[in-house]
Amino acid sequence: MADGVRSYSETFAPYWHPVAFSHELKERPLPARLLGTDLVVWRTGSGVAATQRYCAHRGADLCQGESGPDGLRCGFHGWTYGQDGRCVRIPSQPGVPVPPRARLSAWSAAERYGLVWVCLSPQPAAPLPEWPELEDGSLATVPLPRLDWDVSAGRMMEIVLDVAHLSWVHKGTFGNPEQQEVAAYDVEKLPDGLRARVVYPALSPAMDGVPPKVDRTTLTYEVRFPFTARLAFKPTLFYTHTVYAVASPVSEEKMQCFYFASYHPRIRNFADMFTRSELAILEQDRLIAEGQRPRAHPLDFAGEVHVQADRLPIEYRRAVSALRLGRPVDAPGQE
Ligand code: FES
Ligand SMILES: [Fe+2]
Repeated sequence: MADGVRSYSETFAPYWHPVAFSHELKERPLPARLLGTDLVVWRTGSGVAATQRYCAHRGADLCQGESGPDGLRCGFHGWTYGQDGRCVRIPSQPGVPVPPRARLSAWSAAERYGLVWVCLSPQPAAPLPEWPELEDGSLATVPLPRLDWDVSAGRMMEIVLDVAHLSWVHKGTFGNPEQQEVAAYDVEKLPDGLRARVVYPALSPAMDGVPPKVDRTTLTYEVRFPFTARLAFKPTLFYTHTVYAVASPVSEEKMQCFYFASYHPRIRNFADMFTRSELAILEQDRLIAEGQRPRAHPLDFAGEVHVQADRLPIEYRRAVSALRLGRPVDAPGQE
């Protein structure tokens, strides 16, 4: 590793990452893996908690235990832990003080926008994302099943932000093979991310005897460092909707992406249509992304060749490289 480069987990531990959809976390604790750390996430009486996955007593998997207002109870001998990780009860010796070493590592956990988020560092470097349109319940949301891909979170973000691939990778879903040129577009730098807007002549395939149609779609990309993207789609024929893609780094070479859309609740069949078409689109992306080498997100610009059409992924990579180097994201980078 080059001098001055921080390790992958040291760089990204201070950010909030999703580890589950809220709807997945019921009364049973759930396993999660974030930046190489095994966790168990569970519901307390009033919120969510994230602690080390394996019991301090005899290493049992706490996902096999139960959670509730009293804490997280191990299935092996019933030791019970609070959300700060401290053991509060050892049923086999009720009258004896709990040994101080009977504790789990514990991290900050929060629930927002239908996701359970964890930060592995005591001092988050940035707050949770703000998506005001989701605050008042006026929009409906539809989550996809988790995307569990052998690809780094950085590479995932780059494919989400890639304009030039649409006409190639997404042939047959919405890609328009006639539109190979990428017109120049601006990338706006935000304090903690990037924004860009492009107009793409999406090609909706022929269906039920209806010929294919071109749908000039305005796409607004908004990325928030390190791994969160929001894409607003304003088509002329299909429904306006917004897609949220948050890549959660399992390790330097693997991520899970939490992907959902918001839409106007009066569009009755949106959830089914979106899920079907988006899963087909994402499968096209997965095949390309999992084939890329190196799997890890490259830190420098020397190993690949960059052109003007890659402007948004380039600016993104510049920022993530700055984070790895411990520099401000708008510091001049190498190209
Ligand atoms: S291993 Fe968990 S209580 Fe014994
Ligand atoms: Fe794509």
